[in-house]
Amino acid sequence: MAKWLARAKVNLVLDVVGPRVDGYHELRTIFQSIELADILSVELADDIVVVCPAPGVPDGPGNLAFRAAARLRERFQVSAGCRITIEKRIPAAAGLGGGSADAAAALVALNELWGLDLTSADLVALASEIGSDVPFMVAGGTCLGAGRGELLTPVATAGRFPIAVVVPPVAVATPAAYQAVDRWPTPLHPAIEPALAALRRGRWQDLAAAVGNTFEAPVAAAEPRIAEVIATIRRVVPHGVVMSGSGSAIAVIAPRPWQVEELVRRLPDCFVWAGLTARAGVSRLAKN
Ligand code: C5P
Repeated sequence: MAKWLARAKVNLVLDVVGPRVDGYHELRTIFQSIELADILSVELADDIVVVCPAPGVPDGPGNLAFRAAARLRERFQVSAGCRITIEKRIPAAAGLGGGSADAAAALVALNELWGLDLTSADLVALASEIGSDVPFMVAGGTCLGAGRGELLTPVATAGRFPIAVVVPPVAVATPAAYQAVDRWPTPLHPAIEPALAALRRGRWQDLAAAVGNTFEAPVAAAEPRIAEVIATIRRVVPHGVVMSGSGSAIAVIAPRPWQVEELVRRLPDCFVWAGLTARAGVSRLAKN
C-alpha cells in the first residue's frame, strides 16, 4: 500500500480573458501549490475502486480520480486494477482544485503501481483530458497557466511563503461562475507581470499588492456570504486577499500568525487553514 499527498492550489492571479468558440474560456493565471493536501492510499486490485468517505464527494465513477484511473487503464491497455482510498482534507467545490488534485495523484501513483514508465510530460498531456486544472496539479509548484489552464510554464520563485485559505460555507459550481463572469459588465483583467516579478524577487508585500481574480466581483455579488467574508478578511489583512479559482475559497498572502488567529475568531462558520506554499503538486509519503 503506497500513500500519496495530493496538494491543493490557489490562483494568485486569475484573468478570465474571454469565452472561446469551444465553450471554454481563455485564461491567464498563476497557479500556486500549497501544503494543504488530500492523502490517497493506492494498492493493486482486480477492478478500479475509488472510496472517498467524505460528505458531498462522490465514490466510484463520479470521482475524478476514478476517471483518471479508467482513462490511464484504457489508454495503455492495463489488465490490473486499483483500489484508491481518499482521505479528504481539501474542501470540495471551493476553487482549491481538490478533485483535480486527487486525479493528478491517481495518475502519478498508477504510473508507478502499473509500471507504465510515463514521463511527467506524458502525464501532464493525459491530465488535460480529465479536467482543465489537472495538468497543473501533476506539474505542481508555481506555474503560469494559459489556454484552458493546461498550457503551463514554470515560474521561478525566490522561495516559499506563508499563505492562508478561508473557505466560506458556500459551494460554487464552476460553469455557473463562468456564466456570471460573461454577464458581468465590468470584468477585472488583472495584470500577470507584477506578480511574476514579485515571486521572482521574493517580495511578498509586492505580491500581495498584485493579486486579482476576474471571478471575484461577479461570484461575490451572487453569494452575499462570500462578499461579507471577504470584507471581514480585509479588515484584518488589508492587502493580498484574493478569491481562488471560481471560489468560494479566499487566499490570504503572507499573513502574520496573529492575523490568522483573528480570522479563526471572526469567521467561526468558515474553514480556515494556514501554512506554506509548496514546490510540488503530488508526492509520495514515506513508506511505514
Ligand atoms: O475542464 P473542467 O471539466 O474542469 O471544466 C468544467 C467547466 O468549467 C467546463 O465545462 C466549462 O463550463 C468551464 N470552464 C471554462 N473555461 C475553462 C475551464 C473551465 O469555461 N478554462
